[in-house]
Amino acid sequence: MENTVVIGAQWGDEGKAKITDILAEKADIIIRYQGGCNAGHTVVADGKTFKFHLIPSGILYKGKTCIIGAGTVIYPEVLEEEIENLKKENIDLSGLKISPLATITMPYHIDLDGASESGAKHKIGTTKKGIGPTYTDKIARRAIKVQDLFNEESLSGRIDEILSLKNKELKEIYGLKTYTKEETLELCDKYRKIIEPFVFNDWQEFYHGALTAKKTILFEGAQGIMLDIDWGTYPYVTSSNPVAGGSCTGSGFGPSTVKEIIGVSKAYITRVGEGPFATELTDETGEKIRDIGAEFGTTTGRPRRCGWFDAVVAKYGVLVSGLTSMAVTKLDVFDTFEEIKICTAYKDKRTGKTCEYYPTDVNLHKYIEPVYETHKGWKTDISKAKSYDELPENAKKYLKRLEELMGVKISIISVGPKREQTIFV
Ligand code: GDP
Ligand code: IMO
Ligand code: MG
Repeated sequence: MENTVVIGAQWGDEGKAKITDILAEKADIIIRYQGGCNAGHTVVADGKTFKFHLIPSGILYKGKTCIIGAGTVIYPEVLEEEIENLKKENIDLSGLKISPLATITMPYHIDLDGASESGAKHKIGTTKKGIGPTYTDKIARRAIKVQDLFNEESLSGRIDEILSLKNKELKEIYGLKTYTKEETLELCDKYRKIIEPFVFNDWQEFYHGALTAKKTILFEGAQGIMLDIDWGTYPYVTSSNPVAGGSCTGSGFGPSTVKEIIGVSKAYITRVGEGPFATELTDETGEKIRDIGAEFGTTTGRPRRCGWFDAVVAKYGVLVSGLTSMAVTKLDVFDTFEEIKICTAYKDKRTGKTCEYYPTDVNLHKYIEPVYETHKGWKTDISKAKSYDELPENAKKYLKRLEELMGVKISIISVGPKREQTIFV
C-alpha cells in the first residue's frame, strides 16, 4: 500500500474508521491529524465494537505507531477514558504517540461551546466538546499546547494571561463560572500525567527514520469535507480542515508524502447538526434509512438526518480534496429498497436552470432543489458478498452510475460494519 489519506467525503460518519482499520493492517504509521473528541469512529473487530474519539483507529493492530498529530485538539479527560477502555480490552498501547504540538481542550472551552450554542439565534448544532473555542484560542495564540504542560515556569505565566481574558468572557458574556489559577494549574498537572507516557518528543528523529525507510503512512481524517472550516457549508462546519490538505498541515508530513487519497461516502448521506442538506428526506424513507442504517451519532447519540446520495457533493469533494478514489459504505442498507435515488444536479427554483456545481454560499440553498434520477433496488441481502462479481446487477449499476457522476473510481465497497464485509475492487 502507498501512503494513503482516508477522509470523509460528506458531513462525517461515513465509516472512515472502518476503512482506516482495514487499511491499517498494511500500514506502519497511522496518524489522526485534525479535529478532537467531536469525532466518533467505530470499528467492529473480532466480534467487539470499539468507539474511538482521539486515538487513531489503527491501534487495534499490534506493532503500529499511532500518532495523535499536531493539528488535533485533545481533551485529556476523554483521552484518559479511551486509554482505560482499551487497556481493559488488553489492547497494546505501546505504539501510541501524542504530538507535543497538539492543543489542549480545557474545561472552559467546553463551557463556552455549550453556552454559545444554547444562547445562539442560529445554532450550529455542535457536539459541545469545546472544539470551536479550542481552535479559536489556538489561532488567537492563547491556547495551551501539549508541550506547555511540561514547562512549569512558562505555563504559570501563560495561565495568568489566558485567565485574565477567559474569565471575563465566561462571566461577563455568558454568566458562567470562572476559573482560579490554582485549579487551572491543578488541571494542567492532571493532564500532564495523562499524556506523559505517550508524548512524542523524538518525533523529528522518528519522521526522518520513517521517510528514509519508506514506512507506510496512513492518515486518518475526522469529520468530512463538507464540514471543513474553509470548504464546507460555513458557518455550519467544524473548526478544522478535514479536506485532504489538512492531512499535511496537521501531521507534519508534506504533500509529496501522500500518494493516495480515499474519500469515504455512504451509499446515501447523513448529517448531524444544523446546515443545508439538499437531499434530506424528512419522510418515512428517511426514517427507514435511519432505522436500517442505525443512524444515531457515535459521540452524542443524536439522530442523524438522512437523505439520498448527492453526486454534486461528491464531485465537489473529489475536486477540493483531489480524491484518487472513493470508498462507498453501507450499501447493504438499501437491500430492501424498491427504488433508490441519486441527486445528479441542483435546479435553481428562481430561474429553472440546473447546475452541477456546489453552491458554497449557504444562503443560496433555499433557492435550490435536487434533480433526481431513480434506480431500481436489488432486493437481495448483499451483506455476505465477498467480491464485486457477487453483487446483484442493480447494485453494480448503481455503483457504476456513482462512479460516472463523481468522476473517480470506487476502490472499496462496504456491505456491513465488520472487517470481512468489505470488497476491494
Ligand atoms: P466514522 O465517524 O466515519 O468513522 O463513522 P461512524 O463510526 O461515526 O459511523 C459509521 C457507522 O456505520 C458505524 O456504526 C459503523 O460500524 C457502521 N458501518 C460502517 N460501514 C458499514 C457498512 O458498510 N454497513 C453497515 N450496515 N454499517 C456500517
Ligand atoms: P466523525 O469524525 C459528524 C458536526 C457537528 C456540527 C458541526 C460542528 O465521527 O465523522 P463541532 O463540535 O465540531 O464544533 O460541531 O460538525 N460534527 C460531526 N458530524 N461526524 C463527526 O465526526 C463530527 N464532528 C463534528 O454535528 O454539525
Ligand atoms: Mg463518526
